Amino acid sequence: MEILSHDILIIGGGLAGLRAAIEAQKAGRDVAILSKVHPLRSHSVAAQGGINAAFDNVPAPVNDSWENHSFDTIKGSDYLADQDVVEIMCREGLERVIEMERWGTLFSRTEDGKIAQRPFGGAGFPRTCYAADRTGHNLLHVLYEQVTGLRIPVYEEWHALSLVVAEGRCIGILAFPLFEERTVPIQAEATILATGGYGRIYLRSTNAIINTGRGCYLAYQAGLPLEDMEFVQFHPTSLFGTNILITEGARGEGGYLVNVKGERYMERYAPHLMELGPRDIVARATQREIDEGGGFEGQYVHLDLRHLGREKILDRLPGIRQIAMDFAGIDPILNPIPIQPAQHYSMGGIPTNVDGETPLPGLYAAGECACVSVHGANRLGGNSLLETLVFGARAGRKAASNVNPVRNSRGMISNGVKGEKGDFNPLAFQNQSAAFQSGLHDLSSRKEGEPCFRLRDELKALMTDQVGIFRRESDLLSAKEKIRELKERFGRIGIKQKRLAFNNEWIQYLELEGMLHVAEVITEGALARKESRGSHFRTDYPERDDEHWLRHTFAYKTPAGARLEYKEVKITTYPPKERTY
Ligand code: FUM
Repeated sequence: MEILSHDILIIGGGLAGLRAAIEAQKAGRDVAILSKVHPLRSHSVAAQGGINAAFDNVPAPVNDSWENHSFDTIKGSDYLADQDVVEIMCREGLERVIEMERWGTLFSRTEDGKIAQRPFGGAGFPRTCYAADRTGHNLLHVLYEQVTGLRIPVYEEWHALSLVVAEGRCIGILAFPLFEERTVPIQAEATILATGGYGRIYLRSTNAIINTGRGCYLAYQAGLPLEDMEFVQFHPTSLFGTNILITEGARGEGGYLVNVKGERYMERYAPHLMELGPRDIVARATQREIDEGGGFEGQYVHLDLRHLGREKILDRLPGIRQIAMDFAGIDPILNPIPIQPAQHYSMGGIPTNVDGETPLPGLYAAGECACVSVHGANRLGGNSLLETLVFGARAGRKAASNVNPVRNSRGMISNGVKGEKGDFNPLAFQNQSAAFQSGLHDLSSRKEGEPCFRLRDELKALMTDQVGIFRRESDLLSAKEKIRELKERFGRIGIKQKRLAFNNEWIQYLELEGMLHVAEVITEGALARKESRGSHFRTDYPERDDEHWLRHTFAYKTPAGARLEYKEVKITTYPPKERTY
């Protein structure tokens, strides 16, 4: 058996993964990135509105500070974020954004040449730095340029099949190059998961189709818990029909949300911040308007930008104008955009400390698949790009410092040989490979079975209908039953295409397995949490309950489903208060 080997292997080519890779490579380690798509097709490219950092670059300075940013983030999180972690993000974020500017990000500018900042939801100050409405696109290209300059190898269109664990330590992965007929073991002293979110377990989502929660499942399957998974963010403004993101930046620039009666309904839900209330509140208000008869055709409301004028729309919001024209046939300069809420972000994920270390030695996580617990129950817009850079860099740095560079140098090793790389454990890789081959053989030999897509579509509809913006016990119980049924039926799926190379049917099968487990964890967490906090809203328990529920959920995989445990929230400066906007 041939084994590829690196000091540090990063799974995922989005912002968190690339930033981790740069940090680790600069520390002198042999780093590689593995990604199921070309890095420039990672979902980070779709981030639109901006990245928060308290520069106070507005024309009349308002004395913004990283402390203000921390407070807004903690309040926005409905007090579930760990406050020490939030402080790190808001403080170090300033440096990370400046670094991105120096590396060449084409940020929009103020009249006097500083990085421009726009207001965003739930923020007391205009602190969202932006590159028109293509901020993620700009940042991702800049980081990819750095990765290319550093000659960091990328295994493109490779899938991670499983983590390989030996003697209580992650020692690499079993991988699959999409275009080949074989699986490939990759040994690594440190493996960093940076695989993004799981939005595609929902029918209506702003996420790319690659966002299936694979990284979360790899960790869960390897025995790690998943943290706070019941907190699923819904973005208020996705384009009706396709659910492509229409950035919060549109409201930051002054856009209105209007119902079928022509009312700016946010007056009733967040009278001070109006359309710039935090996402959980604006998404719920919007869904409520639609559910209670305030929607157009019963399905959407309007995001009206016409009063901003042609020049501002072309300058600040060219991307969403193009999206509205291409996918809805509407030019926002002339007509309002039809929008509805859709799943957007995953606050929960693989638990890590502030350096990306997970409870499994040798395994790290950063970005949306991780839960360092900086967003709590509701993330503020503009904080996710920031998180990827701050905690991506930290994970890369920590992994590099934990890897012993003497034992490891780049190379390939063969079965059982003690080579340049020092000791390794071929047996653990062989066992994984054998287990995988036997599962594959079993699947391929099924004469007939249900198609994968049918189960996937049922799962997505179920999650949107019963584990969505509004939740209640009866729905959650029925979702739990249905997920059990889907898990059983998963064992009877049949696939037609038998070859491994370019076998999308098989890839979807693998992804679906993880999606079912992630959905189960979300549902169990939501069912158990008998309160409403941030994005988790129980119509049968509409109040926040700090006495019983100011705590993090940890879900462990067992043969009977997810087992839940709880952990205290870290409060440093801001004791929980009522959240009003
Ligand atoms: O609306 C947006 O541009 C999204 C930003 C975010 O999720 O941070």
